[in-house]
Amino acid sequence: MDGSLRVVITGATSGLGREMARQLALSGARVAITGRRAAKLDEVAKLVEQSGGVALPLVGSVADAADVKAHYAVIRAAWGGLDWAVLNAGVGDSNNARTFSAEHYHWTFATNVGGVVNWLAAVIPDMVAAGRGTIAGVASIAGWRGLPQSGAYSASKAAVITLLESARVDLRGTGVKVVTICPGFVRSEMTARNDAKDMIFLLDTDDGVRRMIRGIRAGRRIVHFPWPLSLFMKYVVHNMPGALYDAVVSRLVSRRKRPYVDESRPPPADHGAPGRPGAPGEGGASASA
Ligand SMILES: NC(=O)c1ccc[n+]([C@@H]2O[C@H](COP(=O)([O-])OP(=O)(O)OC[C@H]3O[C@@H](n4cnc5c(N)ncnc54)[C@H](OP(=O)(O)O)[C@@H]3O)[C@@H](O)[C@H]2O)c1
Repeated sequence: MDGSLRVVITGATSGLGREMARQLALSGARVAITGRRAAKLDEVAKLVEQSGGVALPLVGSVADAADVKAHYAVIRAAWGGLDWAVLNAGVGDSNNARTFSAEHYHWTFATNVGGVVNWLAAVIPDMVAAGRGTIAGVASIAGWRGLPQSGAYSASKAAVITLLESARVDLRGTGVKVVTICPGFVRSEMTARNDAKDMIFLLDTDDGVRRMIRGIRAGRRIVHFPWPLSLFMKYVVHNMPGALYDAVVSRLVSRRKRPYVDESRPPPADHGAPGRPGAPGEGGASASA
């Protein structure tokens, strides 16, 4: 069914991106996969080929405009363009505003927002010229409100949501669809650093990715899941008056017995975050989703 589908998935060395590459390969898609960890990218390329797809591994950072330009040039030369661009690469760690880190904020934005921006610039001209294509950006339900200890992450995902909304309006009538994906909690390297008790309605990776692919295929404007959590966030929390939100959330945080950041968990290696080379800023997200 997807035999001729040409897809790029950014951030495909682990988690949602890796699983999406595998699932699309099962139906014969051609999948360009990006990420900074070359060895992991090779593993995913093998997985794609074993699953029946065609892999095009591209090592580099979405935050680097030159890397993204070079990656798209390789894809264009190999396949002539793309049907889907799944802009999934992202980072998410906690940082309490009481110890506000500009470095943490800039690192988060460079990847989560800068990565989407660099890829939009690369793919939009050819998709518009072809009169077709789907851009699917992975935001988060965390982008619908400023979550505690997650200012940089929430703000970056809010930026992705609004950026994609504007692009969707601008591209209306060109044949190019823009899909915004807002997952709740899904198992991945990122959520493995969270305290499991904070992740309500946690989905297995394959389940979360199936929902993402279904939404992209259907060309839905917003894909959010799992619905008990995402509808609560979208219609109750998102619309809660600011004063009530501040009061309720700060009360919940102050009554917490467990620390948000579990410092005993080792950070994942080789994530190139600020502060400690090869490790995320604070060694674990409060509950990044
Ligand atoms: N899992 C959830 O519950 C959840 C919920 C809502 C939204 N999300 C979003 O889903 C996306 C995927 O996250 P995940 O949960 O699958 O986490 P993950 O397992 O940590 O995967 C993140 C991916 O992003 C890549 N990445 C990070 N920085 C990059 C950079 N500068 N350039 C290129 N690739 C980069 C990583 O590859 P390298 O380290 O090899 O570069 C990795 O492949 C993220 O945007 C995340 O915010 C996840």
